[in-house]
Amino acid sequence: MHQQTTIYYRSDIINILIKSFNYSSYLEIGVDDPALNFDKIDCIIKQGIDPNSLRRDILKTTSDDYFKGLKDKFDLIFIDGLHHCQQVLRDIKNSLKHLNQNGTIVCHDMLPSNVIMQLVPRLSNIWTGDCWKAWGHLRMTRQNLSMFVINTDYGIGVIKKGFQKLYVPRISMAKMDYSFFYSNKKDLMNILTISEFIELFDKSATYNV
Ligand SMILES: C[S@@+](CC[C@H](N)C(=O)[O-])C[C@H]1O[C@@H](n2cnc3c(N)ncnc32)[C@H](O)[C@@H]1O
Repeated sequence: MHQQTTIYYRSDIINILIKSFNYSSYLEIGVDDPALNFDKIDCIIKQGIDPNSLRRDILKTTSDDYFKGLKDKFDLIFIDGLHHCQQVLRDIKNSLKHLNQNGTIVCHDMLPSNVIMQLVPRLSNIWTGDCWKAWGHLRMTRQNLSMFVINTDYGIGVIKKGFQKLYVPRISMAKMDYSFFYSNKKDLMNILTISEFIELFDKSATYNV
């Protein structure tokens, strides 16, 4: 008999984390069409921001402007705005300041599958940008974070405050190129399979993965 395989998208991962940690507040940076992800998130308090928002409940602003003077904190922040490494790094650092105790940051598009897909400026239709460089930088420099990337939906990065063994060697984002990513990605990004993630976080799982 043919067993059907479940594909996990960002909304599935985010909903598993919200359920697993009993979270009640969610921020999405970069919403685009809310039907793609935002509307699928099951959380009591939801805030979305996007400078190109067409819907009134999604704030029309950039992440940098939104974070200026912000007092609110969130349980889960999903970073999926401008996919340039310097911007993603800034979004992660600002999100860490606005994360509740035991909160989680989720970052999309951390695993480009070819060199073109991660080029900035953008050349391809399917595009991850070079967000992976921001991730690599934090894996090399921030011992007080716990970070892994789930190998599904172009790479779903998960960050919590905690502890990690730093990735060596330490190089600057400017020196990171795709061949460095390709040769080092398993440990640089700390990649988990979807089964490993489900085993760790979704106690009620009965899926075939
Ligand atoms: C990849 S789309 C988001 C997709 C959506 N989160 C999803 O899961 O399908 C990226 C969005 O980020 C928005 N964006 C671009 N620059 C931004 C910035 N500086 N701050 C926040 N959002 C930004 C764009 O307008 C675009 O709609």
